Amino acid sequence: MNTRYRKTIIAGNWKMNKTLTETRAFAEELKPILGRPKWCEVVLCVPFVNLQAAGRLFKDAKVSIGAENCHYESSGAFTGEVSAEMLKDLGVKYVVIGHSERRQYYNETDFTVNKKVKAALDNGLRPIVCVGESLEQRELGVTLELITYQVKCALAGVPAEKMRHVVFAYEPIWAIGTGKTATAQEAQEVCQTIRTIIRKLYGARVARAVTIQYGGSMNAANAYELLSQPDIDGGLIGGASLKADQLVEIVNAANQE
Ligand code: 13P
Repeated sequence: MNTRYRKTIIAGNWKMNKTLTETRAFAEELKPILGRPKWCEVVLCVPFVNLQAAGRLFKDAKVSIGAENCHYESSGAFTGEVSAEMLKDLGVKYVVIGHSERRQYYNETDFTVNKKVKAALDNGLRPIVCVGESLEQRELGVTLELITYQVKCALAGVPAEKMRHVVFAYEPIWAIGTGKTATAQEAQEVCQTIRTIIRKLYGARVARAVTIQYGGSMNAANAYELLSQPDIDGGLIGGASLKADQLVEIVNAANQE
């Protein structure tokens, strides 16, 4: 983390979890124990159907709301899809783009990720752009090349002045939901590489202001060490973000740093 130049963001990605009733119960539990974190922004990315309620439930808390996906077109014949403009109109601030589960199960490609990043930015949303390698790719030794390719594709056509709204999340696929975390050194190496690519594309000033998160089995026990790395500015948290007390412990780790 480097709180001098950029914001630390602890974001929960709830994936396809929690009904409205469960979301209400979570808010009741979280608010009294979260307090008002000083050094980091807390974000909850929740299923579309609960976005509006979450906005209301967390209105009096220091929690921003994010969606987990959006379409790249602003409107039209795309049955079942939700546009960035619709999200913005609901008061949503962040949107996760290109999560590996969407790349794997819903044919998300680097090309659609790029279109979605631009749609999000054009509508005043902050994209949390996910990149990461599979176990096979790590074992082949192509992780940094792959990340470079993913980051460059995601940012094609994004102007420098919009870069302060972009967040990256490095999520090694082999660490997601497996209980297997990248070591702090492995995560730092990739997050540093992401910043280097941004520096080459946009210059040092832009690069040092971009928040880069780590995601993949982050929890209360490993958060502090990961967040102590100079280029890891937060977390994108799945499983542990579903439990209010565990999320708060991670937020506290970010505030300790
Ligand atoms: P877990 O924290 O459950 O491994 O999930 C990480 C993730 O995919 C966040 O987007």
